[in-house]
Amino acid sequence: MKLDRLIAGYKAMGRQAAHLAIAARRVRVNEVCVTDGHHPVDRFTLVELDDVVIRPPERALHLMLHKPVGILSATKDDQHPTVLDLIDDPDKHTLHIAGRLDRSTSGLVLLTNDGRWSKRLMAAEEKVPKVYLVETLDPIAPDAVVAFARGFYFHTEDITTLPAELVILDEHRARLTLHEGRYHQVKRMFHRIGNRVTQLHRQSIGALSLPADLPPGAWRMLTAHEVLAAAGGN
Ligand code: URA
Repeated sequence: MKLDRLIAGYKAMGRQAAHLAIAARRVRVNEVCVTDGHHPVDRFTLVELDDVVIRPPERALHLMLHKPVGILSATKDDQHPTVLDLIDDPDKHTLHIAGRLDRSTSGLVLLTNDGRWSKRLMAAEEKVPKVYLVETLDPIAPDAVVAFARGFYFHTEDITTLPAELVILDEHRARLTLHEGRYHQVKRMFHRIGNRVTQLHRQSIGALSLPADLPPGAWRMLTAHEVLAAAGGN
C-alpha cells in the first residue's frame, strides 16, 4: 500500500487532504518525516500523522452494493448521503469505490480497500464490460445500434469511444454494454443520437452481476470466488 492511500483512509480524510498533510510534513514513517505520497508502507511500518499512529487495515474488504438513485458515489460529502453511509462495517473508512455512478444512476457499485484489485478491474486495457439498462425520453432509433458500435468522438477528452453493444429491448429501453468508463458516458452517447436518458441502472461489472435478492441500499461482501473472478481470475 502507498502512504497517501493509508492516510486518505484514516477517518475518511480523502486523497486531497492526505496529500496536503504529507506535503505539510505532518506525516512520519518509522520516525522520519516523509513527503512522498507514493512511499510504500505495510502493516509493519510505523506511520504517524501529527503523532497519532495510523494502522493499515487488517482485513481486505471487497463488497458489492446496490446503489439507489439519489445516493452519491463518494466516500464523503457534506451535503448528500454517500454509499459509505449505507455500509455498517467497522473498517468502512478504508474503502474506496471501483467505478462510480452518477447520483441519478442506480445499480452495482463495488467497494474495496484493495488498491491492486480495483486498479486491475478499472484498468482501461482490461476492457472489463459494464452492462447498463437504459430508459430514454424518446423512442430509440434502430440505427443507434450501428452508431454505438462505431463509437462517438468526444471532443473534451479527444477520444473515440470503444465499440459498445446496444440491444434495443423496446421503444424506450435498451441494454448497453461498455468496455470503458468515461464521465457521464451513457448519457453523453444518447445525447449524441438526439435522445435523453431518463433512467440508468448498472446491472453488472465483468463477472459480477447485481443479484436479484440485493435490494436498493443493501450490500454484501463478495465471496472469495467473486473476488478472483472479477479481476480476471478463474
Ligand atoms: N454513464 C453515465 O452517464 N452515468 C453513469 O452513472 C454511468 C455511466
